[in-house]
Amino acid sequence: METKGKVDVLLGLQWGDEGKGKVVDVLTPDYDVVARFQGGPNAGHTLEFENQKYVLRSIPSGIFQGGKVNIIGNGVVLAPDLFMSEAQELEKSGHPLKDRLHISKKAHLIMPTHRLLDRAYEAAKGKDKVGTTGKGIGPAYTDKVSRNGLRVGDISDNFEEKYEAHKKRHLSMLESLGWNEFDGLAEAERKWMEGVAYMRLFHFVDSEHEVNNLLRSGKSVLCEGAQGTMLDVDFGSYPFVTSSNTICAGACTGLGIGPNKVGEVYGIMKAYCTRVGSGPFPTELFDETGKKIRDLGHEYGAVTGRERRCGWIDLVQLKYSVMVNGVTKLIMMKSDVLDDFDTIKACVGYRLSNGEETTDFPYEIDHVTPIYKEFKGWKTDMSHFTAEEQFPENFRTYVQFLETYLEIPIKIISIGPDRAQTIIRK
Ligand code: GDP
Ligand code: IMO
Ligand code: MG
Repeated sequence: METKGKVDVLLGLQWGDEGKGKVVDVLTPDYDVVARFQGGPNAGHTLEFENQKYVLRSIPSGIFQGGKVNIIGNGVVLAPDLFMSEAQELEKSGHPLKDRLHISKKAHLIMPTHRLLDRAYEAAKGKDKVGTTGKGIGPAYTDKVSRNGLRVGDISDNFEEKYEAHKKRHLSMLESLGWNEFDGLAEAERKWMEGVAYMRLFHFVDSEHEVNNLLRSGKSVLCEGAQGTMLDVDFGSYPFVTSSNTICAGACTGLGIGPNKVGEVYGIMKAYCTRVGSGPFPTELFDETGKKIRDLGHEYGAVTGRERRCGWIDLVQLKYSVMVNGVTKLIMMKSDVLDDFDTIKACVGYRLSNGEETTDFPYEIDHVTPIYKEFKGWKTDMSHFTAEEQFPENFRTYVQFLETYLEIPIKIISIGPDRAQTIIRK
């Protein structure tokens, strides 16, 4: 695969948890650099290899393949305490980071009071709550956009002074929200400051210069998206979204690269669909089939442990995601989870509340009824397959239909959580 001097972007096309971490790890050997460009510890990217399982939140999934530079870009929001525990775990398990992980000075910091604000805003919304991960993501990005943020580059001599000024502002906001649960704040702050001290051991860089210099010297970069297109703050199921641009354009703003540097755009989807948190999900299944998908796919959140809502693949939604990202290659994950179903369905259109049918993802997403096409299940255990020639006929029919509908080839098919359970198609 020719990747030199280019930035390839890999991102989720659904509501997150598509399996981005696994595929970034699989593709890393083809790249010199792996970079995160948005999101923060709301992400949970799971990797499995050599009988070990790792869950990454803020650290790029390229960290396990030796000799690569890993970058946390300016578009990311970072919680020092969570970063420290994640990094120390990795170091304990024999994966040293300090020399190969660079952090943008322009990345914003998530403070303990951002997490309280997250909880306070959710409580104020009541039954309309977003169902956030509680990691302070929204409040940290709000401070960034309202020009009140604290950045990695602020970690310098008079850092504590700056911190106190931000905290004071947050406390008055919490007061106006009627929030009075401050138990554990002092301990959280102590741990957070410990995290800040630990972060000082890392390289803080001007990552936009670093990435562009690497590109000029012919190096290749893989950008690792977090969340998914349906959680994008502009194009997702607003307001039930995260607070960053999860789409391909986010890689340009979150790393400081020109759009002309972008090469392949890898769009990842599951063979079905899941969502965690509140908000519309047209193909959600509330019956035994949904439960079966959840059980077989172990669909429980990597960060919060919450049950993921499960449903059939939604091609109207995916076609929209392909469009707003400019996807050039598709990757289909968790195909093995559907190995034992008599019938598999794919949503090929929506019926709107006025009775009209559409295949264009509409603004009024909470008032649509999915129109399904049915496929015969393949009823074959594919999890041990090693080549695409082994795929059963009914599975090929399903894959071909998706490719035709979405007008993009599916280049990688994943058939299990392990690094080795990956079929790269010719
Ligand atoms: P991410 O956030 O996009 O990186 O995805 P998560 O790690 O949150 O969720 C994906 C889950 O599915 C993880 O538990 C993975 O280990 C697992 N997984 C990834 N690919 C496959 C696959 O092809 N089959 C099965 N059965 N599990 C997979
Ligand atoms: P990865 O990278 C799935 C969801 C939350 C909530 C909404 C807003 O592992 O795919 P936030 O804490 O960001 O303010 O929450 O977004 N959410 C995710 N869902 N995967 C994720 O990340 C998510 N990150 C946030 O559940 O509905
Ligand atoms: Mg995840």
